[in-house]
Amino acid sequence: MGHDHLDLPIDAAAREQLAADGLRMELVDISDKPAFAAWARAESRGFHSEQTAAAIEQRRSYFNDRRITGVYDDSLPVPDEPVATTMVWPADLTVPGGRAVQSWAISDVTVAATHRRRGVARALLEAELRTAQAHGAPIATLTVSESTIYGRFGFGPAALARDLTIDTRRARWTGPKPAGRVHFVTADQLLEPGLALVESVRLATPGQIAYDGILWDRQLGLMVDDEDAKKRRVVRYDDETGQMQGFASYKLTENPDDFTLHRLDLLHLVTATDDAYAALWRFVLEMDLVSEVRAHLRPVDEPVRWMVSDFRGVKVAELDHLWVRILDLPAALEARTYAAPGRLVLGVTDPFGAADGTWAVEVDASGTAAVTSTDEPADVSLTVEELAAIYLGGVSPLVLAAAGRLSGDAATLDAVFRSPVAPFLSIWF
Ligand SMILES: CC(C)(COP(=O)(O)OP(=O)(O)OC[C@H]1O[C@@H](n2cnc3c(N)ncnc32)[C@H](O)[C@@H]1OP(=O)(O)O)[C@@H](O)C(=O)NCCC(=O)NCCS
Repeated sequence: MGHDHLDLPIDAAAREQLAADGLRMELVDISDKPAFAAWARAESRGFHSEQTAAAIEQRRSYFNDRRITGVYDDSLPVPDEPVATTMVWPADLTVPGGRAVQSWAISDVTVAATHRRRGVARALLEAELRTAQAHGAPIATLTVSESTIYGRFGFGPAALARDLTIDTRRARWTGPKPAGRVHFVTADQLLEPGLALVESVRLATPGQIAYDGILWDRQLGLMVDDEDAKKRRVVRYDDETGQMQGFASYKLTENPDDFTLHRLDLLHLVTATDDAYAALWRFVLEMDLVSEVRAHLRPVDEPVRWMVSDFRGVKVAELDHLWVRILDLPAALEARTYAAPGRLVLGVTDPFGAADGTWAVEVDASGTAAVTSTDEPADVSLTVEELAAIYLGGVSPLVLAAAGRLSGDAATLDAVFRSPVAPFLSIWF
């Protein structure tokens, strides 16, 4: 993928709006080390964390394809440190049908506590949406710190995720016991084959984005300031022919009162086959001296509850995870495939304007859609936020209709838009 998104001009409307408030919006040149370091310090402060100079320099080495924005207040005693930050890049997003569509991945949205609630984030977000349109990305994507922020910008929660808490003394393994082997590897040993495995399964699950560079290395604990890195263990599963078909990383925390009550946090589990899935979950659940396994950011259709002796030994907490914003409605809807043929007229409300209108969606027998603007009456009326929520098949339109969030023929919409694989994104970005 080229880097032409880096050459797009800064959004003029946002720049003027912020200038009227005494603020200066600029793109940060990644080759300017002090400017990037000041931006990174501001971004860390925004999330109430901090980074060492070495960690900032390591991050900089990954960001050649990132479009980085800072907003500066030149009246401050420390004017080179921005009061607001964003970072974006074009990232392939998997959609139903085993295909990818280009998304404008938005990250590192912060506004300094000194400059909050005066419209700075809104100016930056709307700038990113317009710049994504200029780039031709039909969709923008985010993972969020709070689920209250982005609905107003037309984003909807398109892929949910679950955290599992498993009592390993109740949840005994009853699933398959595959014949391959699980063995320990170092993070460095997983660097290339692990990413190749991630890539090989990416198109199987709607909601996944392409990740490499910092997003992948972070999973392996390779960041210099990762306090937990030395605790991280990595195992891989090889099938009977010796082919790697999955890996897991986890860390253990001792219970100071009882050595048999360690907690195991499953940090990342990626598998290409059912055997790899079973073998790695069994390995984790049968770990000696562990009484509780916490698995973070897992799919909502996780089979593991059906592979243990006690269903209630697995507690589930669900959260919104991937948020999607549809910018070019025909391109976004034509990018995915559909579960059933049919014709639906969607009346979509979008105050930002991008997807606003009445759209005929005609799905042929192969599940391919043709989308055109129309004057016909709508079969279904919804906002762009709900359209985002159903786009990957993550929520049934029947549920949204029952919640009063869309009206019309929800049953047909459900039959057409549902996905055989629940959407899921395995990382934060
Ligand atoms: C979230 C954050 C970026 C908002 O910045 P901000 O400049 O104060 O936001 P704005 O003043 O532009 O507000 C824009 C709109 O969002 C709303 N909003 C802002 N932050 C919100 C929050 N945390 N929860 C709910 N609504 C919020 C505002 O009320 C405003 O609504 P309106 O325009 O519909 O009236 C800022 O508070 C922040 O940096 N938080 C900590 C880091 C973080 O969580 N970033 C988000 C990462 S995904």
